[in-house]
Amino acid sequence: MTEHRAFTASGPFGDPSRPEDAFLTTLAELARRDGRPLCRRLADEIDRLGPTRRKWKASRVPCVAQLDACLSRGPDDMAYLRGAIAGMKGGLNWTTCPVDPALGGFNRHHGYCTLVGEDGRIPSDRLLVGLFLIDPNIHYPHHFHAADELYLPISDPIAIQAVGRSGSVLRQPGRFVQMPSRTTHALWTGERATLLVWAWMGELSGEFRIGTARG
Ligand SMILES: [Fe+2]
Repeated sequence: MTEHRAFTASGPFGDPSRPEDAFLTTLAELARRDGRPLCRRLADEIDRLGPTRRKWKASRVPCVAQLDACLSRGPDDMAYLRGAIAGMKGGLNWTTCPVDPALGGFNRHHGYCTLVGEDGRIPSDRLLVGLFLIDPNIHYPHHFHAADELYLPISDPIAIQAVGRSGSVLRQPGRFVQMPSRTTHALWTGERATLLVWAWMGELSGEFRIGTARG
């Protein structure tokens, strides 16, 4: 278990009233260090974001009760990112996906928030970035979308299956998962609630469907 590094006016990013800057700067650094194409693109898109900040619009869903526990674990080199999330947590706009029978019980066992986006704290019509929190032992059914996606597990490993690739992979916290446009994929959490960063690029308002791309 590691501790959050606190945000103070004397910290490396200066302004404790804008923890999102620390979050995005750290996320871009991790993505650039990874170096794969979608990660490099995420870093470049973060660099393009402007200085405008909208007011926080806080909202909660039940599984957010597990956020603090998720922020108390994870690899040492993610401590600063977790600290930045802790600094934002009072303002995050948690919600759930629209109810869809194909999602089964998933709807009651997850929450997501959007930090960067058309209506987000940080406006953008080219990039979506947010957090995703999923209860323990939950399956996020197969789905696909037109946007290119990155997931970054923060707290715990997550199993991910991309249709067309061999089997499912267990992705450790701190390692990005690239999910190119229209790749059907599914997620499974393990014994603990799992916190991830998610990012969409490309066709942000394109098709999103639960099921398979050909289904
Ligand atoms: Fe996805």
